[in-house]
This record gives sequence, structure tokens and C-alpha cells, in this order.
Amino acid sequence: MFAHTTVLLNEAVEGLNIKPDGIYVDCTLGGAGHSSLIVEQLGQHGRLIAFDQDDWAHENAKQRLAPHLDKVTLVRSNFRYLEEELLNCNVPVVDGVPQVDGILFDLGVSSPQLDEAERGFSYNHDAPLDMRMDREQELTAYHIVNEWEERELSRILDRYGEEKFARNIARSIVKNRQSGPITSTAVLAEIVKNAIPAATRRTGGHPAKRSFQALRIAVNDELGAEETALEAAVRCTASGGRISVITFHSLEDRICKQTFAKYVEKCTCPPDFPMCVCGNEGVLKLVNRKPIVPSDAELEANPRARSAKLRVAEKL
Ligand SMILES: C[S@@+](CC[C@H](N)C(=O)[O-])C[C@H]1O[C@@H](n2cnc3c(N)ncnc32)[C@H](O)[C@@H]1O
Repeated sequence: MFAHTTVLLNEAVEGLNIKPDGIYVDCTLGGAGHSSLIVEQLGQHGRLIAFDQDDWAHENAKQRLAPHLDKVTLVRSNFRYLEEELLNCNVPVVDGVPQVDGILFDLGVSSPQLDEAERGFSYNHDAPLDMRMDREQELTAYHIVNEWEERELSRILDRYGEEKFARNIARSIVKNRQSGPITSTAVLAEIVKNAIPAATRRTGGHPAKRSFQALRIAVNDELGAEETALEAAVRCTASGGRISVITFHSLEDRICKQTFAKYVEKCTCPPDFPMCVCGNEGVLKLVNRKPIVPSDAELEANPRARSAKLRVAEKL
């Protein structure tokens, strides 16, 4: 059973402003929640192209989307290759760039990825240190924990986990691995816990939460993939098309906000000029100025939605 509760389901799909005959891309298929709602709104000529780098998501999606598979193309790839992959999907191409009517991102990991012990994402289950979304990828959490330099470990714990005790934890990991590799999530969680002062351990949830999040982001280069894919999404969205992005982490949201801002119209002419002469035309307009967040009812039903933010932009 692939049990993932979709976050901001209606809001994110409404953001795409679906035309029944349009071509839409779901970059993060996961449990196919957003994808199902998209295909239900498509007419005879509409199409959905859905990406996920995790083979589990595809197995599940084939069943969940079964009644609509004639309209669906599943792509097992990292969405950082969005533009290249779309060129293989027989969509319209303008000046060498594939064009679609809307692109959705629901970033991060799915609940089954987090909850299944064998994936090695969770400090709550003992498992080999893995954390790969794409299980054909070489880099795992084991490599980072056992091979990366102390300074690099400290940097990712600080930056991706916003962990105050990043330096202590990195030092402790390096010390512990001197007596043999750190192979399991349980051992790592214990090392992290012991590196954090006892007084601060009592607040803020499990003491290993931030470190595990940081490792997961590093293993999957989540921020690098997002940056590359959002740039591609701006290019590949046709005029009038929409991009909906759900983020769960402040760094993810910042990348989305800044990428959109970069492409929003930016006329630099003095305000008293009767018309624009600078020619600095933007290619996007923001559909919502402030991010959309889950309602109280959604948060009550699904606490995992608590840090979600949705931003939507339209291609001019
Ligand atoms: C939050 S879940 C998506 C849930 C989905 N929207 C739903 O309603 O069920 C994120 C999914 O995106 C996938 N994913 C994350 N980063 C990816 C990337 N760079 N390339 C491809 N898939 C990615 C994960 O494997 C995971 O299945």
C-alpha cells in the first residue's frame, strides 16, 4: 500500500488552471494524488506527463491512474532533466524548447519513502543508511556519513538542517567512524543525540530530526535539482501556462521565490516615463503574491502538511 496524503491538492491543481486539451507535467508523481486530479480534468486530447525518480512511485501510479493511462506518460527520471526528457515526449517544440501548458512540483519525499524502514530515511526505524529516492544512484547516506570531511558534514548539517550543533555532531561522527564505519540509522541517531547538549534535547522533537533531514537533502541534491528544474520549467511553459510549486523547507521556498522574482516583469524606467523604453520585459507574473498555506482543516487531518507553501506563477 502506497499511503501518501496529498498536500494542498485542490489549491495546487487549481493553480494550474487546467484546459481540458492541454499538456501538463507533474514533476513529482509520488502517490499520484495531484496527478489523479489533473487527469480527471483532462478531455480526450489532454495529456499528463508525470516524473518520479523512485521506482515505487511508478508501480503505484500504474494502478492508481489505470483508468486514464491512455492520457498519461510516465517518466522515470530526475526532474532536473525536465527539458531534455520533454523533448523525447512528443510535445510541441518552439525554437528548440519543448512547450507545455502547466508544470507542478510537490517537492521533498513521500510518506512511504519516509515510513518504510528499508529506505533508511527515518531515525525511528533501524535500517542501513541509504536515503536515496533513486535507488540506482550511487551516493547514499552511508557514503556521506563515512567518507565526507568533517567540515563538509558540518556545512550540510548547518545549512540543510539549520542544526545549531552542526559542528559538535560532525566532530562526533568523525570520531565514531574511526573505530569502524557507521552503518545504520539507529547508530547514527544515537551519535547525533549524544552530540547535542542534554538540556536542549528536551525541546524541538527528536534530536536527530534536523540531521536526518540535512543528510536526505544532500544525498538527493534536492536543492540543486530544484534550481535546475525551475529554470527549465520557466522555459518550457507556454504563454498563458502556469507553474505550481509546493515546498516544505525554507531553503526550497527561497529558491522558488527568487527564481520567480527573477523572471517577473522588471521595468527599470523612471516612474515618470510615459512608456517603457528599457525593454526589460519579464516572462512571468505571480498568480499569488503571498504563498498559499494549508487550511486549519488540512493541518488537523495531515500534520505533515504543516510547513507546506504553494507558489504559482503564469508565463506571459
Ligand atoms: C511529496 S512526494 C509527491 C506526492 C504527490 N504529489 C502525491 O500527491 O501523491 C514527492 C515525490 O517526488 C519525487 N521526487 C523528489 N525529487 C525528485 C527529483 N529531483 N526528480 C524526480 N522525482 C523526485 C519523490 O521520489 C517523491 O515520490
